[in-house]
Amino acid sequence: MDTIRLDESQIAQAAAILRAGGLLGIPTETVYGLGASGLDSEAVGRIFQAKGRPQDNPLILHIPSADWLEKYCKGIPPAAYALAERFWPGPLTMVLRRAEMVPDVVTAGLDTVGMRCPAHSLCRTVIAAAGVPVAAPSGNTSGRPSPTTAEEMLQDMDGKIDAILDGGPCAVGVESTIVDLTGETPRLLRPGGITLEQLESVLGHVTVDAAVTEQLKEGERPRAPGMKYRHYAPKAPVTVVTGEPAQSAAYIAAHACAGDGVLCFDEYAHLFPGCTVERLGSAERPEEQARHVFGALRRFDGTPVAAIWAQCPHSEGMGLAVANRLNKAAGFHIIHAGEGEA
Ligand code: TXA
Ligand code: MG
Repeated sequence: MDTIRLDESQIAQAAAILRAGGLLGIPTETVYGLGASGLDSEAVGRIFQAKGRPQDNPLILHIPSADWLEKYCKGIPPAAYALAERFWPGPLTMVLRRAEMVPDVVTAGLDTVGMRCPAHSLCRTVIAAAGVPVAAPSGNTSGRPSPTTAEEMLQDMDGKIDAILDGGPCAVGVESTIVDLTGETPRLLRPGGITLEQLESVLGHVTVDAAVTEQLKEGERPRAPGMKYRHYAPKAPVTVVTGEPAQSAAYIAAHACAGDGVLCFDEYAHLFPGCTVERLGSAERPEEQARHVFGALRRFDGTPVAAIWAQCPHSEGMGLAVANRLNKAAGFHIIHAGEGEA
């Protein structure tokens, strides 16, 4: 099929594609999504085919305003309203009990559903115009880094989806934060555009799921099914190096071979002559790193690098989300650069 490229003047056409059961690339503030009507099981089934996504990995339902929550969820706790009030529209997904009308294919048979109201106004406008909640995973082929521009999404999806609505580059660059509100205490399943500190300012203590920071053990089942798959991975193997930025940079400079790829903070880019260097942004600015991480990982695939080294930020604020994406891209192959080691 020919994938049509739409812009903001063509919202009605984009909405018609969703209503007719088609697949639409949608811009959000986090990453581009691969959307279909969340009430149309067949259309949602085609999302899984286009991505090559395992059937047991549920999708997030996107809604244009918090008042739609009650149509698709039940037993909504006060914490959900408090979070919606503070962070919606925005990069936050809440896992809640689902209403019966949400198709099984969306939730992969779970009795919960991930709900998100995106901050990108074009995204909310097209969903409201379609009049249906939009089920959408990130718009990459399963396993690849998520797309943060329409061009990146077309690298994976050209010819596989009906159209893409170009809303410009994504402002956040990593996916939404996922918080599960169905248990005794709120649990962070995936760090993202809303920080753990921001969540805790509303909720008090939030448990961080082990899958955020560690490799799952053989046979272990994560609470967000998607956390068990290898993710965001460029073709070449990635090694993440943690520690103070000057130390991780020195470690990589001492160990990288000529021709390797290096993903580093801007301040250290000059230390790797002979390597293919991609910049994450300033070591001081994890928000900037979040905007660059996926594009940089993708660009290595167009180069002959045999190995990639990545400097990793500390896990405060948005650093937790950036570190999580890098660690997953590396299959949790992490080296701690300590004093004197370099
Ligand atoms: O920012 C985002 O959230 C983007 C944009 C397009 O909105 N979407 C996104 O979707 O990242 P996806 O499918 O790539 O990642 C969703 C993650 C998966 O790990 C999935 O397993 C988890 O959310 N998830 C979805 N529904 C869930 C549920 N009911 N319970 C637990 N985890 C869930
Ligand atoms: Mg994804």
